[in-house]
Amino acid sequence: MAFHSPLVTHYQQALRDREVLEQIRAHYPDGPTLPQLAPLDQLHIGGMAASARLLNLIDPVAPTRVLDIGAGLGGLMRQGATLGYHMVGLDLTHRFNVLNQSLSALAVNAGSPTLVSVTADACALPFGSRCFDAVVFQHSLLNMPDAARVMDECHRVLSANGQLVMHEVISGPNVEDLVYPVPWAASPAHSHLLTQDALVHLLESKGFHIQHLDDWTDTALEWRQRQLQKEQTPRSAALSPAWVFGDRFTQMGKHLVENLVNGAIKLVEIKASCYAY
Ligand SMILES: C[S@@+](CC[C@H](N)C(=O)[O-])C[C@H]1O[C@@H](n2cnc3c(N)ncnc32)[C@H](O)[C@@H]1O
Repeated sequence: MAFHSPLVTHYQQALRDREVLEQIRAHYPDGPTLPQLAPLDQLHIGGMAASARLLNLIDPVAPTRVLDIGAGLGGLMRQGATLGYHMVGLDLTHRFNVLNQSLSALAVNAGSPTLVSVTADACALPFGSRCFDAVVFQHSLLNMPDAARVMDECHRVLSANGQLVMHEVISGPNVEDLVYPVPWAASPAHSHLLTQDALVHLLESKGFHIQHLDDWTDTALEWRQRQLQKEQTPRSAALSPAWVFGDRFTQMGKHLVENLVNGAIKLVEIKASCYAY
């Protein structure tokens, strides 16, 4: 089912899905590797290293069934599949899911038999109870106005002792200074950042026990500053976030740095386990 909402328009309006596939075929005739896809399909601060850290927080079981909520173009999913995880990606933006599947079909070692993409809203997960061992959020809860309902849904679909891991943008001490556009929102209408205290309280009140909470802000700032330098060096990169966001990305990328420096946003990495409540 395709959703039409201003948030979906935000993500789809500049997406050059057909051209991006032509570009990939032309530059990588034997199929792109996951690092080659990363500038396109890891739509968060920290790239593949951040996704690897998040996946490593999951305690494997056999098989490990992982739901990536707000999976975007699926960079983390393909990394998870290389670890042997059965990855389901769920996203509201239908054209992201279609491109995600095409990328998996083209990529080298993407582990595609264990990759599934679903178009749906995180508020109403189209899955039965207890069918996942882990749920992942990577820069996606930041778009969700009803985080409480989303957490109820996560608790429902997780197995007993299931795990929730997240790498999320939260509001910093100077959130009123947040400048737009940023990659997840062109204006405050689609940015739903929680404070760290509110996020912790929400998770605990919805039956999650926090096992690990790391403030990732300094690492994120260093990474984003390095990316900004690369983006400003005139050379023709095969892939970049501009294939998704268009020319707006130049400003979005600068604003990310500005918002991190000014304390408008922070980044956290969290691991929590599920308990009956
Ligand atoms: C900033 S992107 C991050 C994508 C991906 N997690 C990554 O790190 O590359 C946020 C994603 O969350 C998705 N999203 C936002 N709200 C959602 C919702 N209520 N249900 C499902 N997906 C949602 C958006 O469509 C978008 O693909």
